Formats: sequence, structure tokens, C-alpha cells
Amino acid sequence: MNPRDTAIQAYQKHFSAPPRYLGRAPGRVNMLGEHVDYNDGFVMPIAIDRATYIAFSPASTDHTTLVAADFNETAHFTAESLPDRMQPDGSPLPEWALYPAGVAWALSGAGLSTTAMQAAFCSDIPRGSGLSSSASIEMAFGVAWSTLGNWGLPPMQLALLGQKAENRYVGVNCGIMDQFASACGEEGRLLLLDCRSLEYRSLPLPTDTLIVVADTSVRRKLSSGGYNERRAACEEAVRLLSRDLPGIKALRDVSMESFHHLSRKLPSLVRKRARHIVEEIERTRQAIPLLEQGRTVEFGKLMNACHSSLKNYYEVSTPELDTMVEIAQSLPGCLGARLTGAGFGGCTVNLVAYDQAEAFARSLGPEYEWRTGLHPEIYICQASQGAGLL
Ligand code: GLA
Repeated sequence: MNPRDTAIQAYQKHFSAPPRYLGRAPGRVNMLGEHVDYNDGFVMPIAIDRATYIAFSPASTDHTTLVAADFNETAHFTAESLPDRMQPDGSPLPEWALYPAGVAWALSGAGLSTTAMQAAFCSDIPRGSGLSSSASIEMAFGVAWSTLGNWGLPPMQLALLGQKAENRYVGVNCGIMDQFASACGEEGRLLLLDCRSLEYRSLPLPTDTLIVVADTSVRRKLSSGGYNERRAACEEAVRLLSRDLPGIKALRDVSMESFHHLSRKLPSLVRKRARHIVEEIERTRQAIPLLEQGRTVEFGKLMNACHSSLKNYYEVSTPELDTMVEIAQSLPGCLGARLTGAGFGGCTVNLVAYDQAEAFARSLGPEYEWRTGLHPEIYICQASQGAGLL
């Protein structure tokens, strides 16, 4: 059964009535601009056709009741139990419930009403796969409370509150990209976000291609530790470089030229991390006219370069991600292949010539399975609309 029907069915089973509303918030793949959102750079994600679906209605009591159809579990909270991450009976909220509860916490902190609701949700975005399953849950609940509260917040504001929930309530120090892509996605288009000014617009997808997502089936390990370490290295690079470049606020402010001039002053690990960021921001700048002019082959080369950099300098790849990328890059029609998202496991994103994409997808899986003994999931994905009511 699809996740939409599963959410509706779980709702009906639990609450013995049909839901009043149905919402959806997609996951994302990032095409280019990896690990640059928290360095004030540019990101180029698309919202995908995999999503979290939420069936919901206002509650008649002050208890919010959440049913996670994927886990077959239920959790509750009230305005009073929320700040302590507790349920009204004094037990802690289960981990999956921290995402919706965090959104309620962030919304009420911003003075927005979060009417108690009853909701069931279900997603077909594999957790820990680098496709932003958590951001999609946050944005699905954002849509639900925004519907019940009728406060019509712009999608970017909802994304920022989702990020706040994840940073401060769940405790993951992520950037804005995932919530942004889930909230602001556009059908058939790629998004370009300036993570400093938060200005964004959409760009055409690379012409005559399909986007193939390949899930290594290895789930992220040690991700938040590794992620936070990378962030800290970037901050350290800014601190050290600001001795020669006073006034810089983020690695976004360091040009390729100054970096190559000054990089020898950085300790070697910090230098490698910063090199990825400075060069990746430059790649995204180069990519904008390429997409606008339909220069797909060159865009694909930037994706390949991004993977090498994530592997060699940022060191967030894994042997499985590298194997998936290596096989992909050797197959006919592949224009670009790289890991997508934070890394440490999860998925790759592949840009493949339109008429070769089916054959590509058919060959990639078996070859990966033969080499690793792991069973991957490969699918052609479409750029979809951002979060909203159905
Ligand atoms: C995770 C984070 C994002 C971003 C990516 C890496 O998905 O949630 O904010 O930093 O990693 O580009």
C-alpha cells in the first residue's frame, strides 16, 4: 500500500473516523552544493516524489496524539509536557516523536498557535538514507499546524522553524537546505538557494536527462558526530583565515584565490575540509549558467568533481558510496554521479541521459550487489512540489 493510504488507514483505525485533512511533504536530493549550507554557500536541491503523508484533524482535548504508521507506535504531548520532551504520563517522547514535537515547540516559541491535533503519518523516504526523511516529517507537521491555525506562514519561514526544531529540540546541528527543499520544492524544477540571504529561485533541470537515485542500503553511522565535527572544522578555518582576511564571516567569503594563497597556514585536516567548501561553492557558482544554458555535460562533470572532493577532502564518503559512484560513472549515459546529502552512508544521485536511464538503472543495482553483497534500491525520481495540503 502507498504511504498516503497507509496514513489514512492508520488514522481511521486509531481514531475511528476519517481524517479531516491530508498533507504531504517531500524528501529531497541535492544535485550540487554539499555541506555548504552551513557555510553560507549556495545549494541546488530538488524536492523528490517520495514524501511523508499526514492525515490529521483538530483534537477535542488538549492532547496531541501522534500515530507513526511506520513504527505502529503512538505518542502524546500537551503544551505543558512539550518543553521537557515528555508525554503527559511522565514518560519521555519516543525518538521519532521529537520531530513533530520539536516543530510544535518551535512554532509556539514563534507565537504561532499549535492547536492540539490527532494525526497519523507515514513516509516512503527511507530513514537515514540522506533523502531528508526528518525534514519531510517536520514540514508535514508544519503544514498540519499551519492549516489548523490558519496563520498562512510563507514556506521559507516554516522551513526556518523546522530547522530550529531540529537544531534546538532534536539536537542535530543541520543547515537549512533540507527543510527549505521540502517546503519550497517546485515540480519539474531545481531550486537554487543562497544560504546567506535566503533568497531563492528555481532553475531548469538539466536538459534531456533523468535523475536516478541509488540507495546503497547502508544507513548513516555516527552521522551527527561526524557532521558536527565537519562544521567545527569549517568554523576553525574561518577563525584562522580571519587573521589575514579580517571581516570574513563564513567560508563563503573566501575566494579561491585567497584560499590557495593562505591555505598553507591551516593545519592539514582543517585545510582539507575548507578546501572542499571553497571549491564546492565555486562549483555551484559555475553551475548556474550551465543549467540556464542547458549545458548538461559540463554540469555532470561538476557533480563528479563534487564526489571526489567529498571523498578525498571532506571525507564523508564510504566504500559503498564510492563503489556505487564508480560503477555509475562507468555505465553508458551517466553524466554525473555523486553521494547526496550529509554522506556517511545513504544514497547517490546520478544524472543520466534520458534515453539511457532505464538501462542504467537496470545495470547499476546488480553490479553493485555483485560487488558488495548488498541489495540496493535504484529508482528514477521526479522533481516534485513542496509541502502542502492534498
Ligand atoms: C544534511 C543537513 C543539511 C546539509 C547536508 C549536507 O542533510 O541536514 O543541512 O548540511 O547534510 O549538504
